[in-house]
Amino acid sequence: MYDDLSPQDKAKYVCALRAAEFVKSGMKVGLGTGSTAYWLVKHLGQSVRNGELDIVAVPTSTRTKEQAIEEGIKVVTLDEAGWLDITIDGADEFDADFSLIKGGGGAHLQEKVVAMASDQMIVIADASKRVETLGKFPLPIEVLQFGSDATQKLIANLLVAQGYQGIEITCRMAGDAPFVTDEGNFILDLHMGQIADAKALASAINQIPGVVENGLFIDICSAVVVGNADGSVRMELKSGADVEVRQMMGDTNENLFSVIES
Ligand code: 5RP
Repeated sequence: MYDDLSPQDKAKYVCALRAAEFVKSGMKVGLGTGSTAYWLVKHLGQSVRNGELDIVAVPTSTRTKEQAIEEGIKVVTLDEAGWLDITIDGADEFDADFSLIKGGGGAHLQEKVVAMASDQMIVIADASKRVETLGKFPLPIEVLQFGSDATQKLIANLLVAQGYQGIEITCRMAGDAPFVTDEGNFILDLHMGQIADAKALASAINQIPGVVENGLFIDICSAVVVGNADGSVRMELKSGADVEVRQMMGDTNENLFSVIES
């Protein structure tokens, strides 16, 4: 099956496989949303069904919840879990500080709530998600449906006040109608190009009353596990500790060792 995957899916598959090793029996686990998190849920589901892993999980979207249940993973709400040992999720972009843009799948509100209620958040991503400066991927802002046009104007004014000129803001669509999140809100995508000061922007945007949550994750992620199409995975910790590069799939000779770079 792995051999039939596209190069990008191979990269997603292997980073999810490596990150699944962080999940141990007895843990309460936050499950991200998206095409990379999909593989994580698959890997965890397989271990649960084999009887190797006993966990409870808090999914970050209806989509992930349905998949986790199908995989045989015990699903609870965040309030039932109370606090989580670990959350593993994808990202649309990550930079050298492990600041993220999330929300490409429209689930960043629940994803942020779940990640922040976790001892640690690990991001899984293929190498294309690494950027020098956040902002090429449109920044998702979840807003109330009520007064969303006014909220959009307030966001546009804020961007100008922060020195961003000519930024296009689009309402995310699902066919002919606006996309509606699991929480019943709309998403505005901000086509920033480059975000000069992500922390300042994130906190200013969240001051606008109609804004529910922005897709910038600052100081939340503690490690990134980056997958490559050749089956190798590079794991980096925010602490600046050693980087681990391991061949997860592909050339079986290389499967036998892992390389530690400092
Ligand atoms: C969903 C997200 C996803 O994690 C993000 O969009 C990455 O998705 P994918 O793994 O499909 O590239 O933030 O809201």
